[in-house]
Amino acid sequence: MTEPDKLLLQPRDVRFDWSQLPMHWVPREPFATHVLNVLHLLLPEGERWFCRVFHHALPLVTDDRLAEDVRGFIGQEAMHAEAHQGVLAHLPAKGLDPDPFVAQVSWIFKRILGERPTLTVRAHQEYLIERLAMVAAIEHVTAFLGDWILNSPGLDRAEADPTMLDLLRWHGAEEVEHRCVAFDVMRHFDGRYLRRARAMVIAGPVLWIMWIKGAKFLLANDPELPRGTKATWRDYRRAVRKGLMPGPWRIARSMSRYFKPSYYPTQEGSTAQAVAYLAQSPAAQAAH
Ligand SMILES: [Fe+2]
Ligand SMILES: [Fe+2]
Repeated sequence: MTEPDKLLLQPRDVRFDWSQLPMHWVPREPFATHVLNVLHLLLPEGERWFCRVFHHALPLVTDDRLAEDVRGFIGQEAMHAEAHQGVLAHLPAKGLDPDPFVAQVSWIFKRILGERPTLTVRAHQEYLIERLAMVAAIEHVTAFLGDWILNSPGLDRAEADPTMLDLLRWHGAEEVEHRCVAFDVMRHFDGRYLRRARAMVIAGPVLWIMWIKGAKFLLANDPELPRGTKATWRDYRRAVRKGLMPGPWRIARSMSRYFKPSYYPTQEGSTAQAVAYLAQSPAAQAAH
């Protein structure tokens, strides 16, 4: 095993100042801005849920090295949730109240995927493993997105807000850095192919639908756009051509990799590139 994959995972303390953030932080690109803004709607609730699920799994992990990774993972995801929460908290000052959408996201993670205290011990264990497999599936998507954001010169060309780019690239780099943890934890409990394939068949489309709904919500409620602005596939194709978001084939290829029996998360992204970005991330440096 090469050295970068055996790094000790540590949360990096970060600081971001959103007081100067324009509503359209990809200038003149409200569509791309809001599609990327969906991350701020989904991640605080989603990553806190990751942390809760991993807290339940931690006492059952019998491998010391893996348990250490789990603690590092929880620390990093908790920090990510807080960082995106900071952007969310800034939106009402711009005239966009995200709460109606965040309430739906919260309902999914707390009600649908939350604790079920009435389950038997055996059913509880099965439910935990199923949720770990969903975290592993979502972590494939976050590693894909992390790799993409670290290699997205289109956003630099479009002069996207540097603080927001740093948030996304700091987060993306840590996603690439810890991309094996959820997969390893799932396999620690259940290494069967069916388990992970099933989790992605469920989590993938739900994530896709939530993303489209989130982008529609933000565009329709943005006070700087005509009321009821709609997202179109043409907008998406245009943004992909400009390198402002990943294209459909790239997404499809990445998803198909997850379904290969030989899949392992190191196939997605480069640890060396992620660690290099983290060493010079302005937000990570500002906190020291
Ligand atoms: Fe994260
Ligand atoms: Fe993650």
